[in-house]
Amino acid sequence: MSLVTSKEMFKKAYDGGYAVGAFNVNNMEIVQGITEACKEEKAPVILQVSKGARAYANHTYLVKLVEAAVIECPDIPIVLHLDHGPDFETCKACIDGGFTSVMIDGSAHSFKDNIEVTKKVVEYAHDHGVVVEGELGTLAGIEDEVSHAVGSYTRPEEVEEFVEKTGVDSLAIAIGTSHGAYKFKPEQCTVNEKGILVPPPLRFDILEEVSRRLPGFPIVLHGSSSVPQEYVAMVNAHGGKMPNAIGVPEEQLRQAAKLSVCKINIDSDLRLAMTGTIRQFFDEHPDKFDPREYLKPARANIKEIVRHKLRDVLGCAGKA
Ligand code: G3H
Ligand code: 13P
Ligand code: ZN
Repeated sequence: MSLVTSKEMFKKAYDGGYAVGAFNVNNMEIVQGITEACKEEKAPVILQVSKGARAYANHTYLVKLVEAAVIECPDIPIVLHLDHGPDFETCKACIDGGFTSVMIDGSAHSFKDNIEVTKKVVEYAHDHGVVVEGELGTLAGIEDEVSHAVGSYTRPEEVEEFVEKTGVDSLAIAIGTSHGAYKFKPEQCTVNEKGILVPPPLRFDILEEVSRRLPGFPIVLHGSSSVPQEYVAMVNAHGGKMPNAIGVPEEQLRQAAKLSVCKINIDSDLRLAMTGTIRQFFDEHPDKFDPREYLKPARANIKEIVRHKLRDVLGCAGKA
């Protein structure tokens, strides 16, 4: 199988009541960890590359790594997607350079300007057989270079006009998630009977109203890491300092995946798994200096956390 667009993938996910995982890739071990899990679990997958990833690893290296994964995993559909494309030029470079899907993140613009830039990307992308994700509403946190101190929820009354005027293939909405490992402040949370901080619920009312207005249309959730506390503890036990890192409860992601959410973006959880594992390795083996020795368990733990997402959160295991 060669790289595919997400068109068919999203239709099956929508009808089947599950979501496809979109995982960020920055180097070989991350690509391998994700795709080995998807291969074993027979799951479709979206490998996504941010502007920062292209700056770090170089466009060509990332495309070739993903092409290698396609050869190694011939039985699963793989999408190569631009995450948070900041402008038309970056989207064009990815469309011309082998990506099968791009996101144009016009969420920092006015509604009118967001429509304008998104429409321009859609026209170019569709002429080249590439699909486009747009965004309405802003997530708090970092969206590549765009930093939003506070987010603003998607306004459901805008979604039909946006989709109709731009022709986008999927839409990212803001319902209370945010990027990174610090999604909620402790004071926003309640404490459950086990003493665990429970974040405020996502705005399912907005998701439901958007879905009602856009029947059959694939919705995307960014900022969907759950920030596993065992990895936060591992980081902190081995010299790290990540106080009060809090993510989205898995139960809410499971619920969203059953509704119109067809793509769920996860990056921070993979970073945590990798960093926790490497910190522990360094702590326990101060004499070791061969990168393969610490990247190997890091890759293995990325694979296991992705396997868990596919099976227990997204519901896309066995759906390739
Ligand atoms: O949404 C942001 C992703 O986690 C990518 O992060 O821009 O640091 O590569 P990055
Ligand atoms: P997290 O930071 O929650 O992993 O979100 C990643 C993301 O939305 C990438 O676009
Ligand atoms: Zn994002």
